Amino acid sequence: MKVGIIGAGHIAEKAATTLAAMEDMECLAIGSRSLEKARSFASMFGIERAYGSYAELLADPDVELVYIATPHSHHFAVTRDAILAGKPCLVEKSFMLNATEAAGIIGLAREKGVFVAEAMWTRYMPVREMALELLESGIIGKPVTLSASLSYNVSDKERVLSPELGGGALLDLGVYVLNFVRMYCGSPIRDLSTTCIKAPTGVDASEAITFIHEDGTLSSVQASAFSQGENFGVIAGTTGYLEFDDLINPKHIKVCRKRHVVEQEIPVPQQITGFEYQFRACRDAIAAGLLEPSQMPHAETLYIMHLMDRLRAQWGVRFPGD
Ligand SMILES: NC(=O)c1ccc[n+]([C@@H]2O[C@H](COP(=O)([O-])OP(=O)(O)OC[C@H]3O[C@@H](n4cnc5c(N)ncnc54)[C@H](OP(=O)(O)O)[C@@H]3O)[C@@H](O)[C@H]2O)c1
Repeated sequence: MKVGIIGAGHIAEKAATTLAAMEDMECLAIGSRSLEKARSFASMFGIERAYGSYAELLADPDVELVYIATPHSHHFAVTRDAILAGKPCLVEKSFMLNATEAAGIIGLAREKGVFVAEAMWTRYMPVREMALELLESGIIGKPVTLSASLSYNVSDKERVLSPELGGGALLDLGVYVLNFVRMYCGSPIRDLSTTCIKAPTGVDASEAITFIHEDGTLSSVQASAFSQGENFGVIAGTTGYLEFDDLINPKHIKVCRKRHVVEQEIPVPQQITGFEYQFRACRDAIAAGLLEPSQMPHAETLYIMHLMDRLRAQWGVRFPGD
């Protein structure tokens, strides 16, 4: 499958590195607002075609999947144009600015019969199935609490600070802790409490969120775009806990049944960067004639977008694009 990347920024480089190392997929084209930038990106990653506009990439008949790596504020317009051009899309997280945009794009994709998926890469990785099997086996008893934390000091990035670009910790980092909760606790959220510290620009800088689930499970998560802090996930049950040494790209799952005693350390399979799984999932779903991947169905993307709208409303964080 031939992929075209839109937006020659930071994460596009990781996607291009991944595709360059995959035997079953390739990056055919890069689209940037600047031809010079597109050419330089193409030569860095051995990409055949460089376009100085997004529209030119969307008009390339050989591009079979468009990977959209622009700021959140631009996901809607770029994805809409791609769908109208009939191109299947893999859109970086967070999928859109808000649930209204997300519902609009999903509705359009279904109406036009075009595949669209959110690139929440943790949903596509083998570690997810490994952890679900461990939970199913009863090795930690009945899950009681989930905790997760993700923080990177990315406060020097304009995209992260800017309300116009859909900045803030939630859409960049908090979305991972929310997905962690949704992946490993199937029970719907009954109640939530939350608080956040804002950046001087008005976007959320750091946040803490607690969920009570309908089955009585409690999830407690936090995210920060201003601290270079810890990055972990823990699922604690009645007889032990599972620990992910890295929330977004774990190398191991640790099984502990006595505090701090690691009984098993289960490695994840060798990978390129971890992005390859989402690309393959899209390829397989498209080949099967599906409009969404089973790993990240539209309903889940919408659920998370609604949750993020609700959190931002409680904090009083609004984007000009809302
Ligand atoms: N999966 C992950 O691990 C991961 C990690 C980081 C970020 N992300 C996601 O990836 C997306 C992009 O993040 P990033 O860190 O790669 O951002 P970035 O480095 O700022 O790159 C974004 C690119 O979007 C394009 N763009 C279009 N309109 C723009 C505007 N008005 N201002 C700035 N750039 C604009 C630019 O490409 P051209 O100039 O070439 O048009 C820019 O290089 C976001 O959705 C983010 O949440 C995912």
